Amino acid sequence: MTIQAPKGVPEYVPPQGDEFRYVRDQLATPAILAGYKYIELPYFEDVALYTKGIGESTDVVSKEMYTFTDRGDRQLALRPEGTAGVIRSVIENNLTQNGLPIKIWYAGAFFRAERPQKGRYRQLQQVGIEAIGAESPALDAEVIALGYEAFRRIGLTKFEIQLTSLGDTTTRPHYREVLTSFLSKLDLDSETQERVKLNPLRVLDDKRPEIQKQLVDAPLMINYLSDESKQYHESVKHYLLEAGIPFVDAPRLVRGLDYYTRTTFEFVHSGLGAQSGIGGGGRYDQLMGSLGGKDVSGIGFGLGVDRAYLACEAEGIDIRQALPKSMVLLSIGETHDLYAFKLAQELRANGFIVDYQAHAKNLKSGLKNADRLHAAIAILVGDDEVAANSVSIRMMDSGEQIMVLATNLILELSNRLTLGSNMWKEA
Ligand code: HAM
Repeated sequence: MTIQAPKGVPEYVPPQGDEFRYVRDQLATPAILAGYKYIELPYFEDVALYTKGIGESTDVVSKEMYTFTDRGDRQLALRPEGTAGVIRSVIENNLTQNGLPIKIWYAGAFFRAERPQKGRYRQLQQVGIEAIGAESPALDAEVIALGYEAFRRIGLTKFEIQLTSLGDTTTRPHYREVLTSFLSKLDLDSETQERVKLNPLRVLDDKRPEIQKQLVDAPLMINYLSDESKQYHESVKHYLLEAGIPFVDAPRLVRGLDYYTRTTFEFVHSGLGAQSGIGGGGRYDQLMGSLGGKDVSGIGFGLGVDRAYLACEAEGIDIRQALPKSMVLLSIGETHDLYAFKLAQELRANGFIVDYQAHAKNLKSGLKNADRLHAAIAILVGDDEVAANSVSIRMMDSGEQIMVLATNLILELSNRLTLGSNMWKEA
């Protein structure tokens, strides 16, 4: 039997690989433009980081974590998300010492042992940001805006921002009591009753219709906010309105992680069926303190790259067209390999993307090869070209072909680039 990739793990083979990479890069661009600094985090951490940081009542921790014991008997877990790791790193490396806030972004794979289906994977990719150590509605609005711009950048339009406030530490305990008392009167199975004890908010997230039916009149956090939290929330909304960023109030929004307080949001796409969350995030007032760091608040998001890519497909967005076009350099016959090889190096040194394919048997087989590689341009080096210190540029679409002096090749290609014929260079 041949070996296959593990269940629930997506792969993006060419040409999808470059499309996926493009989506990931575009999702990160707004954060980079806003001055967020990149952090490269470990792919596995101490299990305790997640049980403490994310919360034991969450599915992510209680059911979906890939945990293992290493040879030194340490309990480790593949990272299910990035926020806890960022905060751990900020504390451990004392990144707050030179002042606050600190703004960080990250990207990469995360691991959750979920039941796989389209858009729900066991290895998922996110682009995430965290802004730590400043409490201002402007920052909350900035974070939400950066997520919005990220999705807009890849052309998505059929998504909405769902926004709510989950309250602060002064009002949450009271709301928790009210909710627990409401839930205690319902007809719930024993597992759900256990959940009520661990974290009653979690029960609001139960998707089963028989539970949802009973939750219609459940008390909502948004109606129990302190004056301060309420004002803060109104102010965040005001910023978004002024910035022209559309959102909807989502008082029933519950996130899958326990650390959220106050501003909480999700990006929901209408074309993805059940896996509609293309991104989400919010503020966390206590996470840093609970992990042994300074008692400061942070806010961030995680954007799902896999789902954003699926959303592009659902909206019919042609990503291929946004990618830099490729160029193939062909030497026809063995004798011109060195000439062509040097030319390829020169082009690459000037930033052009060039695939050099050595000694085609003849022009026909060379062009067939260029077709196979979806090249937009073929640069041909054959007897005639070498004899005239030249090369031929062939537009693969139209078949139009011109011969230019080798010394003019870069200028010629650059002119075509500036004439708007498309990008030939890597972005
Ligand atoms: P999250 O909502 O668990 O938040 O994940 C963020 C995004 O990752 C989701 O909206 C979704 O697009 C994608 N995602 C999650 N699980 C899967 C999966 N199994 N398959 C495919 N995509 C998935 C967080 O992880 C928080 N750390 C975000 C955050 C940062 N909050 C504050 N700062």
